[in-house]
Amino acid sequence: MGTRFARRWRLLIPALLGLLLAGCATGRLDATDPIGQEARDIDFLMRLSGWMAVGVGIFVAAAVFAIIVKFRAKPTDDPDDLPPQIHGNRKAELTWTIIPTALLVFLTIFTLPTVFALADEGTGRTIKVEGQQWWWQFTYELDEDEIKKYNLDQDSRYEIVTANDLVIRTGEEVNLEIHSNDVIHSFWIPQLNGKKDAVPGRVHHWRISSDEPGIFYGECVEFCGLSHANMQMRTIVLTPEDFDRWMREQLAGQLAAQVAPAEESPEAAGAALFETHCISCHVVDGAYESAAGGNANLLAGIAPNLTNLMSRTAFAGALYETYQTGPDGAYLRNPDGSLKLNVAELREWVRNAPDMKPARADNQQGMLDFSEVLTDQDLDNLMAYLKTLGSPPVLP
Ligand code: CUA
Repeated sequence: MGTRFARRWRLLIPALLGLLLAGCATGRLDATDPIGQEARDIDFLMRLSGWMAVGVGIFVAAAVFAIIVKFRAKPTDDPDDLPPQIHGNRKAELTWTIIPTALLVFLTIFTLPTVFALADEGTGRTIKVEGQQWWWQFTYELDEDEIKKYNLDQDSRYEIVTANDLVIRTGEEVNLEIHSNDVIHSFWIPQLNGKKDAVPGRVHHWRISSDEPGIFYGECVEFCGLSHANMQMRTIVLTPEDFDRWMREQLAGQLAAQVAPAEESPEAAGAALFETHCISCHVVDGAYESAAGGNANLLAGIAPNLTNLMSRTAFAGALYETYQTGPDGAYLRNPDGSLKLNVAELREWVRNAPDMKPARADNQQGMLDFSEVLTDQDLDNLMAYLKTLGSPPVLP
């Protein structure tokens, strides 16, 4: 029996070790590698309190060990002889009240300024963030200077509406106005800042910034329904020059979307299908902005605005990549250097979305199943039309 037990242990220990080490895998959500100032401030507090806890832990463990050794029963002791019973020792009581209080006061001195600083609004651009079941929408309103800079009509309002990819520029303290249109979500880009809830009927301010360009991944962190775990997003930080290019391309995409595809082309056939099946939920700026009549579950604006679909690195709540990536995560390219569109998954998403991302059991919310509706030819035509929406993403 002894050997069987030992054999079992030999298997159990590596298995447990494997489980433990799996926690060290570097995922795309990494709160231990802060990039933004806000995330660095939080990280400092986490490490400070962590090391203090380690110090207290070591002190208590050492004290317990020392006391066990020093006061253990000796062979010469009479087993019926109880040690003197005492109650209340002023010195000891004061010590273990004052030391933890001092530690907490010390921690508060560092924590309070950070808590207040994190609540400040950013000094840069304001971006509206809307949590939806189950994806994020980002809205940029152009200010007067930008309207002038991009030669736009000074009497009009201009908005850029995007989904999944929150694009910002380096060095800017972006002021997020976080809101939800259905249930409570929570916005979290671990490398840029902590978590902020998106609550219906309220607007929460949150600030993010990054001095270095890059793609930083995030995830909704408040349980919000069936596809909560599939409600991801990413922040794409670009240099000011690249951000400017992104803005221009978004605006150019809005203009291009208004031009109808050449007649009798697959794109035109796709546009016609889009008009029949997609526009009750999806908006394309200037082309398809009508809302479905009466059905609150099917209302334009509840699904991502697709004006610049091709400029986004991900679709379906950032669950799938718009462009193909290799095993190392790097983008694959065509011989001419352009990004390789992830046609297979995008086409399958259009065909039968609920299969790729659970929505609501009654199929009353989220992208519908079109597998019985659209033929292969229809799907090809729709893909041809979708490919016309926007230029490829500007990558950091
Ligand atoms: Cu949205 Cu969880």
